[in-house]
Amino acid sequence: MLPLCLSTQPVSKKLFIRTYGCQMNVYDSTRMADVLAPLGYDTALRVEDADMVILNTCHIRERAEEKVFSELGRLRDLKEARQHEGGGLLIAVAGCVAQAEGAEIQARAPYVDIVLGPQTYHRLPEMVARASRAGQKVLDTDFPVEPKFDHLPAPSAQGPSAFLSVQEGCDKFCTFCVVPYTRGAEYSRPVASVLAEAERLVETGVREITLLGQNVNGYHGPGPDGSAWSLGRLIRHLARMPGLDRIRYTTSHPRDMDDDLIAAHRDVPQLMPFLHLPVQSGSDRILAEMNRQHTADDYRRLIDRLRAAQPDLALSSDFIVGFPGETDADVEATLRLVRDIGFAQAYSFKYSPRPGTPAAAIGDQIPETVKEDRLTELQRVIGEQAVAFNRGCVGRHFDVLLDRPGRHPGQLIGRSPYMQSVFVTAPEALLNTVQRLEVVTANPNSLAAKLLDQRACA
Ligand code: SAH
Ligand code: SF4
Ligand code: F3S
Repeated sequence: MLPLCLSTQPVSKKLFIRTYGCQMNVYDSTRMADVLAPLGYDTALRVEDADMVILNTCHIRERAEEKVFSELGRLRDLKEARQHEGGGLLIAVAGCVAQAEGAEIQARAPYVDIVLGPQTYHRLPEMVARASRAGQKVLDTDFPVEPKFDHLPAPSAQGPSAFLSVQEGCDKFCTFCVVPYTRGAEYSRPVASVLAEAERLVETGVREITLLGQNVNGYHGPGPDGSAWSLGRLIRHLARMPGLDRIRYTTSHPRDMDDDLIAAHRDVPQLMPFLHLPVQSGSDRILAEMNRQHTADDYRRLIDRLRAAQPDLALSSDFIVGFPGETDADVEATLRLVRDIGFAQAYSFKYSPRPGTPAAAIGDQIPETVKEDRLTELQRVIGEQAVAFNRGCVGRHFDVLLDRPGRHPGQLIGRSPYMQSVFVTAPEALLNTVQRLEVVTANPNSLAAKLLDQRACA
């Protein structure tokens, strides 16, 4: 007679994660998959194939939040259809909307099984057990004293480029922003924990690591010697790791850009010459209202110092238009700053009042149509700069990390040092390698290039 079931192998189940928001959420989604893998969950490519769905949500603007509730409506239909067939679907809502509005999600969408915040996903196995075996509704939006990083399994990597969270939370309290409330207080991971994760990623074939944090350049994790390491010091150390060719970091705050980090842009060849440094506005009055704690000229001077250290540095930024009380003159100041700096790319958003943030309570809110016009104008200027930057790349030779197959057979896509997508005709064998390419054409959002070293094709 066959033994009933002596295998310790968990039953195979499919997990589908939909990620909204920033790179930290992308990182968290991969880590949630790592946490659930020992329970037998592997990746479903389509939501229809999943036994469990996690929506990893973003609360930064109203639109981001609305998407979650409309997606939940679709999942309710899927779950009901499954239940008619005698099956089931476990639905979890994670991330920043879950953190901010956990109880509201449970009230508005009672078919959601698990609601969990960004700091508790290491506890997912017990939440899944409670929800699936005991049929309980689970809400876990704590800020645990013990950081989740102490409990996460080794990371798995897909492809040659990976994110690594080194810092979490934010104590800056910009008046428009929900992040300090959804992610909690600022925390820097210990250096040893970061290095162990980086080593593991490199062992699994990763060539490029992007260090992540809401204020990543405010990193001050305890080092093995007991002293606090700056981000610059961490980057210099990582650059000595064999096999790690490229290092990036995001997102930075202008206030935390110290001399050591600026010098790392001069000294560390592995540190890519691209920096995303949000400024939000070019008006000192608005910057003060936003509690950004610097002026537009402080930002200009900082960029001068960065460019003196690394003349080849390409810059990106974030802007908000239509902050309460913003005048046409304030918008002019922002456009002036954009013209003065010259960005390779930038993101711009209409101000979205977020519940519980100080700026949402300011009386002088800007009408939607005015925000729209200001955004259009800002995006036009930024768009022109991006096109000019891309055109300036034609004829240049870049090292590109080819990390994805293209849409057409025989085509690969990679990232330039300046984060542009680069398309090239190249054999599949070159996937996941760094190749020297010559840029032949520039498109508004990408570059086309050719392989320089044709021997690589042999
Ligand atoms: N930590 C980063 C930004 C994180 S949020 C920093 O300090 O810059 C990413 C971007 O979203 C912000 O830079 C800002 O431009 C935008 N953003 C944040 N809150 C917003 C709001 N209430 N309305 C519109 N855009 C917002
Ligand atoms: Fe939000 Fe400001 Fe913190 Fe950035 S620095 S996460 S914009 S509060
Ligand atoms: Fe959004 Fe949370 Fe990131 S609010 S931008 S997912 S930190």
